[in-house]
Amino acid sequence: MARKVTKAVFPVAGLGTRFLPATKSIPKEIMTLVDRPLIQYAIDEARAAGIKEFIFVTSRGKGALEDYFDTAPELETALRKKGKDTLLEELKSTNMDSGAIAYVRQNKPLGLGHAVWCARRLIAPNEPFAVILPDDVIAAEKPCLQQMVEAYEETGGCMVASMEVPPEQASLYGVLDIRDDMGAMVSVNGMVEKPAAGTEPSNLAVIGRYILTPKVLQSLNKLKSGSGGEIQLTDAIAHEIEEERPVYGYRFRGQRFDCGSKAGFLQATVAFGMAREDLQDEFGDYLRSMTATQLAAQ
Ligand code: UTP
Repeated sequence: MARKVTKAVFPVAGLGTRFLPATKSIPKEIMTLVDRPLIQYAIDEARAAGIKEFIFVTSRGKGALEDYFDTAPELETALRKKGKDTLLEELKSTNMDSGAIAYVRQNKPLGLGHAVWCARRLIAPNEPFAVILPDDVIAAEKPCLQQMVEAYEETGGCMVASMEVPPEQASLYGVLDIRDDMGAMVSVNGMVEKPAAGTEPSNLAVIGRYILTPKVLQSLNKLKSGSGGEIQLTDAIAHEIEEERPVYGYRFRGQRFDCGSKAGFLQATVAFGMAREDLQDEFGDYLRSMTATQLAAQ
């Protein structure tokens, strides 16, 4: 049985240019789906999967993220005085135990692979770790990382979350070259980052959840010194396959929203808004009336 996964890396050092001008002063991960920032969804998912230590790879201008996980004594006192117990309870989920969270800095946005590499000193030589990209938000009955950790406990190796995409969208993703399709899980022959249209080896795309062995960090080390442009995490995982170490794709059950894009963020806002009991009547009425108005205008 594979070693337990208790650490997760959250790369949050990207520039978030697709959300400018908002991201000029607000980290993308603090942007809010209904009333919770993206990062809160990622942390809740990690906790559900048994993660106890949280490593954030940050950059300039991400101070709001550090403050978000700190205690807020004045706010708590004010809520307590007003008897707002539900809100107090909500706030608790934002607090981190002392020492459970660590921040490392990526001082240039050299890509996702480089961001993960920045966490290398906080991961022991034999310790598997998860990577969560908070801008991929996944609505699922059982949280995606929990599904993956359960599968990983049987397989070990490296595991990437994957989903079927239409062929015309494959060039936007890392795509798996499948060796053996076992249903929920596939073993992988190779991975291609953003394949040119028509050259994709399958329609199974990689999205922002990974369970990795520390060997990937060693590969990133080599890639780092060997390449000029962005350092791709996909290349380091592909190296595992070249070394004949197992890599699996995991078809998670759930719906993924690309909250790094405006359209994806809006879709997630509608889906998460409609999933909320306190909002679904009012918001649902609005959506229905809007659709009716549009249909009438056609
Ligand atoms: P994206 O590709 O979405 O890039 O990164 P971005 O900078 O966040 O956004 P755009 O494309 O400019 O709008 C995917 C994830 O990898 C992290 C990002 O913070 C995001 O969580 N990342 C990316 C880093 O931490 N460092 C990098 O150098 C690049």
